Amino acid sequence: MEIHRFEKIWLVVSLVLIVGFIATVAYGAVGAGVAMVDDSGGTINPANVGPGGAQTPFDDPGIRKVGENEYVVYVRAQQFRFVPGTQNPITVPADANVTFRVTSADVTHGFNVVGTNVNTMVIPGEISEMTVRFDEPGTYGLVCNEYCGVGHHTMAGTVRVVPQSQFNVSEVNN
Ligand code: CUA
Repeated sequence: MEIHRFEKIWLVVSLVLIVGFIATVAYGAVGAGVAMVDDSGGTINPANVGPGGAQTPFDDPGIRKVGENEYVVYVRAQQFRFVPGTQNPITVPADANVTFRVTSADVTHGFNVVGTNVNTMVIPGEISEMTVRFDEPGTYGLVCNEYCGVGHHTMAGTVRVVPQSQFNVSEVNN
């Protein structure tokens, strides 16, 4: 069987494209550190999230020191604020391991510290967990990036990263 020269060229080009597309998808799936939200941070009954629920850290959210230079920040997302974050900024020290544990009291929200790779969905019933280290002190915006109702566009807050020397966990009023 005779294959025309141009047909051969196009066959090769389309094979290269197919391999390229598969490589792109494979990189996006495993190479870029992007993951689906799952319940690796644990699950929680959304009815128990928030004041009046059962005793969970999300009734009294905020920052806890859990080790040498290690902190956990519990954040409750609800229509249409972050607690803490919206009324009071989330204050964390620079150069420390900070684990955010975030859950929702009502519907699906987002939790994105603007300009960083701290970005997750917050799904009722699941605790989203991310550990980060902020190198530089500064102030970051915090936004909800999942449509969650009529007040979605107002759902925002602040994360303050302060130098270690100025950070005292017992004085932080989250
Ligand atoms: Cu919460 Cu959009």
